[in-house]
Amino acid sequence: MHKQDIVNIILQQQNKSYLNITAQDFACSNIALIKYWGKKNNILNIPNNDSLSVPLGNKGAIVSIKISNQEQYYLNSQLLDINHIFFNRLKTFLDLFRIANNYYIVDIQCNIPIAAGLASSACIFAAIIKVLAKLFAWNLNHEQLSILARLGSGSACRSIHDGFVLWQAGKDKNGMDSFATNFAPLFEDLRIGLLIIDKKPKIISSTAAMELTRQTSLFYDKWQEIVNADLAQIKHAILTIDFAKLGQIAEYNSLAMHACMLTSRPTILYSQNATIALMHKVWQLRNSGLSIFFTQDAGANLKLLFLQQDVIQIKKHFPQIEIINPHNKMIIT
Ligand code: DP6
Repeated sequence: MHKQDIVNIILQQQNKSYLNITAQDFACSNIALIKYWGKKNNILNIPNNDSLSVPLGNKGAIVSIKISNQEQYYLNSQLLDINHIFFNRLKTFLDLFRIANNYYIVDIQCNIPIAAGLASSACIFAAIIKVLAKLFAWNLNHEQLSILARLGSGSACRSIHDGFVLWQAGKDKNGMDSFATNFAPLFEDLRIGLLIIDKKPKIISSTAAMELTRQTSLFYDKWQEIVNADLAQIKHAILTIDFAKLGQIAEYNSLAMHACMLTSRPTILYSQNATIALMHKVWQLRNSGLSIFFTQDAGANLKLLFLQQDVIQIKKHFPQIEIINPHNKMIIT
């Protein structure tokens, strides 16, 4: 099956023409505590393993779409050239939803760096789906919206939800059961810190890097075993509200994913010297009693996990940090 078949199935009972000329919505980025790394279906973005994430509060993308007689995409107020790599990605995705032969003017305002391992594609594709649902007044449930967002970027399916979000890989070969759901409410005092080391786009896209790892790393099967074990443990940590356990598992899972990438041929290394230096700093602080953990995605930047009670200490040790309260949602009606 192709993406268009999945879209047709999900939208078969829905409005075929738009009810509004313009609409706007926000979707936040999300950070995986248990990582998605490798697909069993590259066309439909069906992952090899379940993953689990936290939302990034008001960090994400506000997307406005207007039905028009021309196609234009703006990213942070800049008109994208037809040769821009993101132009094609957006167009290919929007082509799936040209039900009324319409064109779209899309304005994306993203308050996190693009393609730097901060899940910019997750929030952008999730926001696009939420806006299309408003334009066409689709009556879809969260699971269906999550599947549609997944077709844009795998991790986008987790940005449809709040709380601790679980994306089940699913068993269906067409991915009709591969969507995200809310697993549990977030810990009230959980905070996330962004340590931006490099805002430049990543050296290799996550799509290409995860496929290279899957195809060439001899440790890929082991990574799958680790994910399953980590997922079981982190679910337990969430249900028992055990932050230290959650942090340990998340940090380990991230390191295991990067270790697996290192064993790809050619190797994939997103870390820079500053990334490693900050990891050592986190470990030193933890040894001295601070409950702080890191996770890293496809980029050099680190995200720290800690609790509200330690915010003053964290700011003292990491003056450059941006602290996010994942409960702070941006609501756009
Ligand atoms: C390391 O969702 O960006 O952030 O599905 O190919 O668009 P595509 O990949 P993407 O990969 C995210 C990888 C990750 C881990 C995660 O978010 O789970």
